[in-house]
Amino acid sequence: MNTRMIYEPDEESLKYAAKVIRDGGLVVFPTETVYGLGADALSSDAAEKIYKAKGRPSDNPLIITLPSVADVEKYAYPPKSFYKLSEKFLPGPLTCVVRKKSIIPDTVSAGLPTVAVRVPSNPIAQKLCALSGVPVAAPSANLSGKPSVTSLKSAIEDMYGRVDVIIDGGESEIGLESTIVSLDGDKAVLLRPGGITIEMLKEVIPDIEIGSSVKEEFIGRPSAPGMKYRHYAPDAPVYLLDGSDASVYEWITAKAEELAAEGKKVGVLCCDEDTPLLALPGSVSLGPRGDDGVQAHRLFECLRSFKEVDVIYGRLPEDSGLGLAVLNRLLKAAGFQIIKL
Ligand code: TXA
Ligand code: MG
Repeated sequence: MNTRMIYEPDEESLKYAAKVIRDGGLVVFPTETVYGLGADALSSDAAEKIYKAKGRPSDNPLIITLPSVADVEKYAYPPKSFYKLSEKFLPGPLTCVVRKKSIIPDTVSAGLPTVAVRVPSNPIAQKLCALSGVPVAAPSANLSGKPSVTSLKSAIEDMYGRVDVIIDGGESEIGLESTIVSLDGDKAVLLRPGGITIEMLKEVIPDIEIGSSVKEEFIGRPSAPGMKYRHYAPDAPVYLLDGSDASVYEWITAKAEELAAEGKKVGVLCCDEDTPLLALPGSVSLGPRGDDGVQAHRLFECLRSFKEVDVIYGRLPEDSGLGLAVLNRLLKAAGFQIIKL
């Protein structure tokens, strides 16, 4: 497929991209979280193209992206709690799962009675969605299983030749996907941590629950390694180390030497403060240890930067604020393989 690049998204070129969407094509576009792979959410055929371009299993539903909160009622039955949240957080990095109207095809919702709705704050995303005049089904623009796309370079790497248009939006501001909250049951449930933190959500909905899969991931911390959980994954296997600075430094340095003797290269994902690790040839810093915003912003690009290593070792981040979302993505990239020191 020929992919047209839009490097300077102005009114004219966005009108073109919007028409591609209306005509059933695929457009990669920037949002404040990660790049999205958009198609007409009212068309089953267009939605099917998304699954094919990503190599995504068709039982994993798509988010619909809308230009404004007022549009949500056209496609879904939002409860009162939706308006409470939207007043505070939308447009922005929050996605809500609500009852869908029948106009949204089963291909988009993967047969569920609900649909995930998102109103992004990124001006290019807003403009594109407004100009298309249809809800835009848009998962993250990565190949299924790979880290999400947060730069033009990664968008081209994964999607060039698979989509009709790629729009340059520079680096994604947040760098992690939106927070997802289900508003379909009696109580609101956090399904995926992201830019809007659980602490922020609790200010609006104090009795919000943490979804069982999220709980399992953070509180239960499954010790059984499970590659079936592997998402956001670079080519090499990832292991997370849980231990003091000194024990982690010693363990990784010894391991790197041991593997070097076998001709193997080690990748290390650490922070600016981890100077003994930064001295190793394959190390990449996520940023300052105390700055979860910078870590979120860089995470996926860092994971993608490990091109020629045999194994990657990382450290468990803090689990508060945005750190919870960073931890969530890292645990999945590692398939929950944690080495306790
Ligand atoms: O920030 C984001 O949300 C990005 C940008 C592009 O908007 N999109 C994104 O989409 O992350 P995706 O498809 O990569 O992740 C959406 C997640 C999936 O894990 C999917 O299972 C879940 O949302 N989801 C979608 N519809 C759902 C529904 N009706 N009920 C529960 N989960 C749903
Ligand atoms: Mg995704």
